[in-house]
Amino acid sequence: MHMITSVGVIGAGQMGAGIAQVFAQAGYDVRLSDLSQSQLDAARSRISGSTGRAVTRGTMSVEERDRMLDRVQITTALDPIGAADLVIECATENEEVKKRILRDLTPLLADRTVLTTNTSSLSITRLAAVTDRPQRFMGLHFMNPVPVMKLVELIRGIATDQATFASVAAVVATLGKTATTSEDYPAFIVNRLLVPMINEAVYALYEGVGNVASIDAAMRLGSNHPMGPLELGDFIGLDTCLAIMNVLHDGLGDSKYRPCPLLVKFVEAGWLGRKSGRGFYDYRAADGVPVP
Ligand code: 3HC
Repeated sequence: MHMITSVGVIGAGQMGAGIAQVFAQAGYDVRLSDLSQSQLDAARSRISGSTGRAVTRGTMSVEERDRMLDRVQITTALDPIGAADLVIECATENEEVKKRILRDLTPLLADRTVLTTNTSSLSITRLAAVTDRPQRFMGLHFMNPVPVMKLVELIRGIATDQATFASVAAVVATLGKTATTSEDYPAFIVNRLLVPMINEAVYALYEGVGNVASIDAAMRLGSNHPMGPLELGDFIGLDTCLAIMNVLHDGLGDSKYRPCPLLVKFVEAGWLGRKSGRGFYDYRAADGVPVP
């Protein structure tokens, strides 16, 4: 097994920030990299705000929180990531963007470094093929919000070796999370089941089966889901949901995965959910007013 004490996270969006937080809370040294300084600053505030709630509740002391924040170094450069024992690529769900990052990163990596991707849906084997280490490459898929959700999906590419898999599984256990193993098929397990349900909810809205409030209330109260599917789509990001539907549609070649035209239209309008201030709900004025 590879010894892992330092972690490099590439991409400081909601997933990258959450992943950096859980590793720092578990005592790892974390380097969080993003091209955008403002994205890094926002990630730092998000981590500070998220742990601030724990301090207020008394489940974490101010000193522990400060030590945790000190363990997260932010950088706009890629070079400092190369020396980490474990690297997690958390860029946007776009195959070309991920491949470009992995290609740029490869010459900077130490030989021992285990390289992983937090992709929600893309082929691990295809991403591994642009690196120099497909045997030390695998999928490490966290759920949002990362500090709260208990599951991490582990996905082997065709070449992933057992030592790499065992090291990454051991690291996940130190985070207090449960790992499940998924095969390298489009969208793995969670998103193969979850995102078509969200897409189906958008179809139900598109066809007028119900409005936003009734579709979400139906699934919250009728199926005991913590969030309705449209609210959850806004939470994940409608661009991410559409990207995952496209991977399912292209990868499995079945028309049942066709993205709903209304989902496509929202993304084209820039209505991406919470992160853009508007999706199926309007987050600009009050938090979460359904868009009629
Ligand atoms: N960071 C840290 N803690 C957070 C948090 C965050 N971002 N968001 C919520 N929490 C904590 C709160 O502090 C609270 O902790 P406590 O119980 O110790 O006081 C607890 O979580 C519950 O939070 P709230 O009371 O504010 O709110 P809710 O009870 O409504 O829960 C929720 C919020 C956990 C987000 C819940 O609505 C939920 O589970 N929603 C579904 C989330 C889901 O399905 N995620 C998976 C998406 S799929 C995915 O991520 C894959 C990707 O590839 C697309």
